[in-house]
Amino acid sequence: MFQKWPWNWNAIIITLIFLKLLTIFNRKSHFPITSTAPSSHPFKSNQSFSCAPPHHSYPFCNTSLPIKTRAQSLISLLTLHEKIQLLANNASSIPRLGLSSYEWWSESLHGIAANGPGVSFSGPIRAATSFPQVLLTTASFNKSLWFSVGRAIGFEGRAMYNEGQSGLTFWAPNINIFRDPRWGRGQETSGEDPMVASAYAVEYVKGLQGEDLVGGDGGFMVSACCKHYTAYDLENWGDFRSFSFNAMVSKQDMEDTYQPPFQSCIEEGRATCLMCSYNRVNGVPSCADPDLLQRARRDWGFKGYITSDCDAVAVIYEDHKYAKAPEDAVADVIKAGMDINCGTYLFGYTQLALEQGQIQEEDINRALSNLFSVQLLLGLFNGDPSSGHFGKLGKEDVCTLEHKKLAIDAARQGIVLLKNDKNLLPLKQTTITSLAIIGPSANDSSQLGGDYTGVPCNPISLFEGLQPYIKTTYASGCGDTRCNSSDGFAEAVQISREADAVVVVAGLDLSQEDEGRDRTSLLLPGKQMDLISAVSSASERPIILILLGGGPIDVSFAKVNPQIGSILWIGYPGEAGGQAAAEIIFGDFNPGGRLPITWYPESFSSVPMNDMSLRPDPSRGYPGRTYRFYTGEVVYEFGYGLTYSNITYKFISVPDNITLSNTASKSGPSKLTTHKTLDGIDYIHVNEIASCNLLKFEVQISVFNHGDMDASHVIMLFGRASTSIRGAPQKTLIEFTRVHTESLNAIQVNIGIDPCKHFSIVNDDGVKILPLGNHLLMLERLEHSISIGL
Ligand SMILES: *[C@@H]1O[C@H](CO)[C@@H](O)[C@H](O)[C@H]1NC(C)=O
Ligand SMILES: *[C@@H]1O[C@H](CO)[C@@H](O)[C@H](O)[C@H]1NC(C)=O
Ligand SMILES: *[C@@H]1O[C@H](CO)[C@@H](O)[C@H](O)[C@H]1NC(C)=O
Ligand SMILES: *[C@@H]1O[C@H](CO)[C@@H](O)[C@H](O)[C@H]1NC(C)=O
Ligand SMILES: *[C@@H]1O[C@H](CO)[C@@H](O)[C@H](O)[C@H]1NC(C)=O
Ligand SMILES: *[C@@H]1O[C@H](CO)[C@@H](O)[C@H](O)[C@H]1NC(C)=O
Ligand SMILES: *[C@@H]1O[C@H](CO)[C@@H](O)[C@H](O)[C@H]1NC(C)=O
Ligand SMILES: *[C@@H]1O[C@H](CO)[C@@H](O)[C@H](O)[C@H]1NC(C)=O
Repeated sequence: MFQKWPWNWNAIIITLIFLKLLTIFNRKSHFPITSTAPSSHPFKSNQSFSCAPPHHSYPFCNTSLPIKTRAQSLISLLTLHEKIQLLANNASSIPRLGLSSYEWWSESLHGIAANGPGVSFSGPIRAATSFPQVLLTTASFNKSLWFSVGRAIGFEGRAMYNEGQSGLTFWAPNINIFRDPRWGRGQETSGEDPMVASAYAVEYVKGLQGEDLVGGDGGFMVSACCKHYTAYDLENWGDFRSFSFNAMVSKQDMEDTYQPPFQSCIEEGRATCLMCSYNRVNGVPSCADPDLLQRARRDWGFKGYITSDCDAVAVIYEDHKYAKAPEDAVADVIKAGMDINCGTYLFGYTQLALEQGQIQEEDINRALSNLFSVQLLLGLFNGDPSSGHFGKLGKEDVCTLEHKKLAIDAARQGIVLLKNDKNLLPLKQTTITSLAIIGPSANDSSQLGGDYTGVPCNPISLFEGLQPYIKTTYASGCGDTRCNSSDGFAEAVQISREADAVVVVAGLDLSQEDEGRDRTSLLLPGKQMDLISAVSSASERPIILILLGGGPIDVSFAKVNPQIGSILWIGYPGEAGGQAAAEIIFGDFNPGGRLPITWYPESFSSVPMNDMSLRPDPSRGYPGRTYRFYTGEVVYEFGYGLTYSNITYKFISVPDNITLSNTASKSGPSKLTTHKTLDGIDYIHVNEIASCNLLKFEVQISVFNHGDMDASHVIMLFGRASTSIRGAPQKTLIEFTRVHTESLNAIQVNIGIDPCKHFSIVNDDGVKILPLGNHLLMLERLEHSISIGL
């Protein structure tokens, strides 16, 4: 079997040799968004679209003209008053020009979600495929899965648009770094590693936007949005609120942790939208920071539109008190390069800012040009949508069998086996005849989506998922996830005594972690731990613990308790989570997911959440963050995950040394200049190396499956400099790939290495440097040293 990845030297080439239901979330109380169905979308049954006859002969409707020309033409036809009405998420219609109104705000984080006013589930389409929450899909470490999920959501989004039930501009993915385990929105992200978050962003955006489906003339199926730009990862902790938080970020952390996902999302993913965040970064609100916003256009080739998060312009005046008046906030963001406001400030105060001379009409024209360009690329001014690209997509393309199978596959591939003493799992139907499942979320499929969930097609609870396998009994044990009473324990203990096998479902839900809600403790909520202990000590055999939720949980007690034989983390597994978990419990699927975040112990909850530093600082007892820098104890480490197989590795071929001398310096044919760090380590500035391509090489690895089950296995290749360099990561993920391995067979996997990218580090000034000397490649316990010299 041969798995093909885009031949891009930064990617991996693998050769296999042997062969919530509907929730409308108002981000902010003073911005009332109603959930009425958009009336002006082009219903198939009742078409209403821009450039419909008799308004079809304007040049902006002429598909033979270049996009820029069409956008400029439309701008030239608008009055100033009309222009201002187009700067809000609920852009007004302009009947005079036959322009339909347009709702920019639709959400699609892990399936079409009802959180934005652009999406409605009260039309011909009543449900959409609900994939696992992003953190669990990330745990699959399978790039082609990420792409496929994005692609499926893109199709469903276009179909919903065609049925008049959504816009074409979706505000996903959330690619902020899961910096602190308490963050309520960490579940929405692809974890703590910037390289993984970058890779996820690229696959999801390419899948969703469907640029490859359109062909040479350019255009997109739907538009994706990289959010929240930037250093946004705190909701509500202590005295800190996302709306007023000032994230203090060093140049070093900015360049090697916070920014890379955004750069990749735009440069490689070619996202058509960027969303600036609520917070300030080093004193300046993100949406008002010209350096941040213009960097995306200037350095990363961004060509889309920049939207504010919802009410992120209002907060500049009302919460940050950075602007002295609302119109000043408007002038700040327009001048910085923001194009549209989710909220009402631009709609309400742009006129005033113009009259005061703070901004000019050309500034508005620039914003409109960015907005119209994206709308044009989506085909919004091409007339009847049903006759255009994707015009045939509709109701029958949502909740398809294929998409529902993909939702099961994503959950299966993501689920992480954390403990499996004495191979308790998989259970065998031949040796047990009954099972008890306990926990407040076990019989409730509405808990399986996490936040930004729409209406799922066919949700299956964990209890329902097990029933086809075995006679199953259920007791909730606690009233809800808060578990504030032990009244239900007796019943739970009772049914677990009567069953051959016991599963307890514990963990989190949106009452513990959500937008606007950070946790304060990493322990299981309420009396959940007591419930688990009561059941496990009453049970004759060790029990199976299923952990639901996004953020890491300190389950040290369960790790060491022999009466808890197995632990599975199932994240928020989406509509098919119940089936996927049951398949794993009964061995129909061999789990292979890996944790995309460090599981910290409870002691971490005393670390100030507002401290954005990744690097540890012993002088103030600060332990650092993420596996790359955190120096303390862990409950489970980043990348941890067991399988039912036993996989071993060997390096087959890796170079011992790399010589830089044949990659002439950019400044001329002369030698590269070496510099010295304060610790006396020699290094080269990466941007002085003329050809990084000449340094690339392949690592060949043999992967052997000693188990009696085939396994879909994640290989994670880490690296680090072998001498300690101040501020360098203790280790960093270089590449990862997921491969099929057959029982009792070896496969060879080749991983491409780009030393400029994979062995470089970012120094205090935010500059990429390549340390000379020894670098280690690490594959679980295997290490190989490579010397880099001149
Ligand atoms: C089409 O839209 C018009 C105006 O919005 C409305 O009066 C009419 O009832 C709609 N027709 C159908 C079939 O939905
Ligand atoms: C559209 O633009 C093309 C290229 O300029 C021109 O030849 C054509 O006449 C235009 N079509 C209409 C309907 O105006
Ligand atoms: C957009 O929403 C705001 C706030 O709800 C409202 O005041 C305004 O009239 C709306 N504009 C349009 C065009 O619907
Ligand atoms: C499980 O949930 C369903 C749907 O809410 C409910 O009808 C059923 O009674 C529950 N089963 C048990 C055993 O509580
Ligand atoms: C405990 O939780 C129940 C619902 O699960 C709730 O009705 C009750 O008010 C809670 N009690 C306390 C003290 O929080
Ligand atoms: C995995 O297989 C290797 C090689 O056969 C063996 O040395 C090792 O003990 C096995 N590990 C486990 C956990 O079974
Ligand atoms: C570099 O590695 C090659 C083999 O990979 C070896 O032949 C050569 O001697 C090494 N050179 C140095 C300077 O270590
Ligand atoms: C990766 O995901 C795709 C899409 O679901 C799947 O077909 C493929 O088998 C997965 N690869 C591995 C190695 O599990």
